[in-house]
Amino acid sequence: MKSARVSEILIGNMIAEPVYSEQGNLLLKEGVVINKHVLNKLLAHEIDYVYIFDALMEDIEPKSLIREEKLEESVRVVKHVFDDVLHNERMGVKSGISKRDILLVKNVVDELLRELENAENILYTVVDLIGTDAYTYKHSVNVTVLSIIVAKALGYDKADIKNIAMGALLHDIGKVRVESELILKPGKLTFDERKRVEKHPSYGYELLEAIEGLSYTTKQIILLHHEKLDGSGYPYGLRGIEIPPYVRIVTVCDMYDAMTTDRVYRNKMPIYRALDILMAEAIYRIDPEVYSVLLGNIAVYPEGTGIILSDGRIGVVMKYRHKNPARPIVRVLNNHLLSGKINVELIDLEQSQILFIEDVWDVKATKEERLEAAQKRNSRVAIN
Ligand SMILES: [Fe+2]
Repeated sequence: MKSARVSEILIGNMIAEPVYSEQGNLLLKEGVVINKHVLNKLLAHEIDYVYIFDALMEDIEPKSLIREEKLEESVRVVKHVFDDVLHNERMGVKSGISKRDILLVKNVVDELLRELENAENILYTVVDLIGTDAYTYKHSVNVTVLSIIVAKALGYDKADIKNIAMGALLHDIGKVRVESELILKPGKLTFDERKRVEKHPSYGYELLEAIEGLSYTTKQIILLHHEKLDGSGYPYGLRGIEIPPYVRIVTVCDMYDAMTTDRVYRNKMPIYRALDILMAEAIYRIDPEVYSVLLGNIAVYPEGTGIILSDGRIGVVMKYRHKNPARPIVRVLNNHLLSGKINVELIDLEQSQILFIEDVWDVKATKEERLEAAQKRNSRVAIN
């Protein structure tokens, strides 16, 4: 329960203590959910403050594995390093990456490892840190966190985990050599354009091949992170055991994060669909063990995640299920248009055949940010 300014409260909150008029008449009982009508009543009686329960968030403690500021700091460092490498390329500097940059990347890995060390319950939600223009950097940090989690769960030792994390953080460094118009191109790439983009693993390897401060493991990850077990990947079309196990970790985490975050050329897909696609891939193209370890060690929708159901209702995850990650128990707001009433309902998505989670929203967002996100969603619907 908290006190809130009437002018700032969001529709959907619940009155936690009775509200009386200046004359002492009862205006609202405890438990009334605030809708437009209720809000007008409060304003008409010049009530400035009321006690509210946040109807959606009550009793829910949102959890996150890594502090947001740590993630943001990591993204900034990765951007800085990529910019440096690009600058060196343009200036014709032979060794594309400086010793200082390698040190910066090592520090980021150490920091992320330290953050993850104390995490008792492995819960990770891929946070939308900044806009899609920073996609490559944000993606690199997300893939690193996921790869550390998986490598740890698979029993790799500390030194190996560090090398894998370095590879994950730098896996797309070769993209600095590909024209950014291609990387950011909305819509489908032509055959030739795709071939150019598919050079990024080799470019990355070339850039870092001679750097002594980087391990063989790290360099192999950069070179081979797009290889697939059935030979359909690039640059070499390697098969099965030709692809080292530590590379496969980054491949799966890379695909998972790419599918579940917004890109310039398409909006992110719902997580349940990404999981279905990965599960199909796990049969013959990616390492099934890595896939199941990833799934078993991350919470796709941790408790407290804001969700949007396929019928447009908004809600919050109440109970997460590791066995059925796309189908948690959720608390949603029902907005009855005719009566203007709003109430809160618990829905077990495992019991529902027709409802699924379409998207997520930031529970910490301000009213304005929520409105903006809703408008963005509506325009997507209009475009689709
Ligand atoms: Fe890549």
